Amino acid sequence: MSKILVCTGGGDCPGLNAVIRGIVKAAKHDKQENEVWGSIEAFNGILKDPPDIRRLKNRTVRGIHVKGGTIIKTTNKGNPLDFPTRDEKGHWITEDRSEELVAKIKQYGFDAVVNIGGDGSQKISQALYEKGMNVIGVPKTIDNDLSATDLTFGFSTAVQITSDSFDKLVTTAASHNRVMIMEVMGRDAGWIALHTAIAGGAEICLIPEIPYDINRILKIIKKRYRKGKGFVNIVISEGAKPMDGEVVGKTSHDAGDTHIKLGGVANHLRAQLEAAGCEAQIRTTILGHVQRGGTPIAYDRILASAMGVKAFDLIKEKQFGTMVALRNNAITSVSLKDAISEYNHVDLDHYLIHTARSLGIAFGGE
Ligand code: F6P
Repeated sequence: MSKILVCTGGGDCPGLNAVIRGIVKAAKHDKQENEVWGSIEAFNGILKDPPDIRRLKNRTVRGIHVKGGTIIKTTNKGNPLDFPTRDEKGHWITEDRSEELVAKIKQYGFDAVVNIGGDGSQKISQALYEKGMNVIGVPKTIDNDLSATDLTFGFSTAVQITSDSFDKLVTTAASHNRVMIMEVMGRDAGWIALHTAIAGGAEICLIPEIPYDINRILKIIKKRYRKGKGFVNIVISEGAKPMDGEVVGKTSHDAGDTHIKLGGVANHLRAQLEAAGCEAQIRTTILGHVQRGGTPIAYDRILASAMGVKAFDLIKEKQFGTMVALRNNAITSVSLKDAISEYNHVDLDHYLIHTARSLGIAFGGE
């Protein structure tokens, strides 16, 4: 018998519930009597006194694979190594509670922990593994920025949402002869923007991996208007930046979550275009968190379910310190160490960059 704790950490993502259901159902299907528990709000639940953990039975997970979000909640402020707390003056500080966490997991009798999360969460998984925790990682992010897996669940749903939104903007752009700029998420990787540009038929796609030249973009716009085509649709990744410029965002001063919060580059681009003499009317749309919400598309339910089942298999095989991965159309595992070693930027030799260029999509840079 195994007593398993499941956590979801970092930003939510369509498919999290399907992973949870996969683990619970595989544990039930197993010949041994297993117990699965969820820690509410990543590791915060286990660190609370009394712990905020919930037994996950077959009936708890019934039908949840079609639902967005996570039934066990998540947080960006759940890093046990950098845990937000107040000092005696009431100011927020952070402290390392990882040893306490590892001890509590043992004290409550858990044999294994499944940590479902992105890049940051898997770095935490590796640190906890090194401190003696039996942990298995499951990769999660709409950004698809983990290099150890060919794809993360949630990404395809996000691309479906961005592409549907893009299609809607195309018809209004054409009716008004406007330049439409749509900003999508993705952090430092341009995967969502690149896929959206191809699926939607954008004229211009701006991604973090190719810093853009405003004069080049203006030239493309002017040419299209001169030729009487009359409208331009641009998709821009939140992490895109001009040549010799910086990303647009705010530094978060929240204890436990000091990541830069990207957002607003679409408006920045609009201002740059207007200042450079763009005469066409420009409108911007920042899609934001709708990209992470709602029901996962069928593909993500399937991928997430397979990853949940694989996480349970890895527990049975005692393959701790590994992360589930999709590689060459097979569900497999990689060491957590390898999983966190490289960020998954868009490789400029990727076939989709070639596809986009051949379709006439401009990247606004070299
Ligand atoms: O990593 C997923 C993601 O949605 C990014 O695309 C985005 O930059 C970030 O999370 C937003 O995070 P938050 O939930 O803190 O607003």
